[in-house]
Amino acid sequence: MEQLNLLVIGSGGREHAIVDALSRSPQAAKIYAAPGNAGIARQAECVPIRETEIDRLVAFAREHAVGLTVVGPEAALAAGVVDAFKRAGLRIFGPTQAAARIESSKEFAKELMTRYGVPTAAFRAFTSYEEARAYVAAGSFPTVLKYDGLAAGKGVVIAGTMEEADAALRDMLLDDKFGHGKVVVEEYLTGPEFSFMCFVSGERVWPMQLAQDHKRAFDGDKGPNTGGMGAYSPLPFITAEDEQYALERILKPVARAMVAEGCPFEGVLYGGLMKTPQGIKVIEFNARFGDPETEVVLPRLKSDIVDIFRAVADGGDAELVWHDFATLGIVLASKGYPGAYDKGIEIGGLDRVEGRVYHMGTRADGDRVLTAGGRVLFVVGEGATLAEARAKALADVARIDCDNLFHRTDIGHWALD
Ligand code: AMP
Ligand code: GLY
Repeated sequence: MEQLNLLVIGSGGREHAIVDALSRSPQAAKIYAAPGNAGIARQAECVPIRETEIDRLVAFAREHAVGLTVVGPEAALAAGVVDAFKRAGLRIFGPTQAAARIESSKEFAKELMTRYGVPTAAFRAFTSYEEARAYVAAGSFPTVLKYDGLAAGKGVVIAGTMEEADAALRDMLLDDKFGHGKVVVEEYLTGPEFSFMCFVSGERVWPMQLAQDHKRAFDGDKGPNTGGMGAYSPLPFITAEDEQYALERILKPVARAMVAEGCPFEGVLYGGLMKTPQGIKVIEFNARFGDPETEVVLPRLKSDIVDIFRAVADGGDAELVWHDFATLGIVLASKGYPGAYDKGIEIGGLDRVEGRVYHMGTRADGDRVLTAGGRVLFVVGEGATLAEARAKALADVARIDCDNLFHRTDIGHWALD
């Protein structure tokens, strides 16, 4: 079997889980991460190139005979990293800038879904504050306002009243708080949310196991929205029929639509879905692996992930085989996150942990590991049941010493409590 040098772009828990999966492959020669973090450095060689320094990434891949590059973060995709690698004749796993619009432009995603009959919340897009305000005033509450563009999960406002909606529309359309102003106003949906990630290569779609993220900062789904505070897989409340429906009516049609629109998708297509009383509908698409969903899904993958990456990039075939065990992961975040927080606090006890720990935001200082971000560590428990996986994750969390971290204790409550 031909061995490859591999490069993972990014520096979070998702990239750590990708590096971990690659390191289980007999096809992995040398694994590099750019820029990586203190945990990734134990399994790969970290190189100090940031995720959007595209020319330097291309040059690095050439100089180090990298046979396959895997992109983690959306910022690198939106900056055109895949286009640049392809122009340079380098193999890369991820969508082009044009295909990544399924995530980077809410309006593109919504119009595609409407045109191809993919179930999603009713919507209208606006650039005029007056028109958006009039439309919202004539509708019902709560209503959902989404800033159109990459806003790191902070561009969505669920407004319960006209006053809240007006304040958000002013922020998004008049004050240009996020950059250029365009807003999608959406029907408010209810029901459990879940994440359905698929490997996609043109019209070919390989579904992964389902996962659920927890976006709110505190137990009981209270507090501000975050990038995600924990996740688990599988999901007992989503039936095999639900999964089949989502695959046949949502993920596959979108993959076909992207081909028809002249921007075929290659990479991970992530459906953020909701099981509403009227059936499963799309909340959003992402053009990449989810974070932290990837950290609970990839440990369950029994197949060689390099085979899948090759099949997507080169057009061959691959089979996905999964372990039966359940995984449940808990984020340890810096106190204050998602608001302001301190960095550079030492983390102890990592060598006492029995399961997997993926680093989300850490930095090495000699032998010491220091906090370096809002979300710092992701502790994954593995068990025959979700309850066992949760107990193991919580036991490992208790083994980690750091004064400046907090976590949720109820991850998985949709399935367990
Ligand atoms: P998004 O950035 O589009 O994933 O939105 C962030 C969160 O806002 C989602 O995870 C949902 O919890 C919520 N949300 C987004 N759109 C809707 C909607 N149409 N109805 C209800 N909740 C929504
Ligand atoms: N977990 C949500 C995301 O990756 O966007």
